[in-house]
Amino acid sequence: MNIQIINGPNLNLLGVREKSIYGDSSFDDYLNELRKRYTNITINYYQSNVEGEIINKLHDVGFSYDGIVLNAGAYTHTSVAIGDAIAGINTPVVEVHISNVYKREEFRHKSLLAANCKGVIAGFGLDSYRLAIESFL
Ligand code: DQA
Repeated sequence: MNIQIINGPNLNLLGVREKSIYGDSSFDDYLNELRKRYTNITINYYQSNVEGEIINKLHDVGFSYDGIVLNAGAYTHTSVAIGDAIAGINTPVVEVHISNVYKREEFRHKSLLAANCKGVIAGFGLDSYRLAIESFL
């Protein structure tokens, strides 16, 4: 089974950025744990701060992979284009957020992606990514 994790803008700063919201582990450390836990799954990882690059990655994997775990960061709340890309591919996408976006500012309560996703997981810290992987098993 092939799963693609895609992280969007500012998520390269996990472990450094706003630790009280996003925690103090780097994504690389967490990814190692995930790969050790799911030895029978190929977990590919991609991060970009650029909207079009996220769309290109969705197109690249979205006709052959079994699942995509997408944390589009702030683009979740603004990007019609990423929402359209999700609608245009065949691979199911689970939208994830580390924080509980519904406890935060009102502009984070709206997702332009969710309606085209298989589901949404938010608020479980980095464990949100593991829960999303579980949804594909
Ligand atoms: C986030 C929530 C977004 O609102 C924010 O812009 C992020 C991270 C999360 O994982 O909690 O960059 O997607």
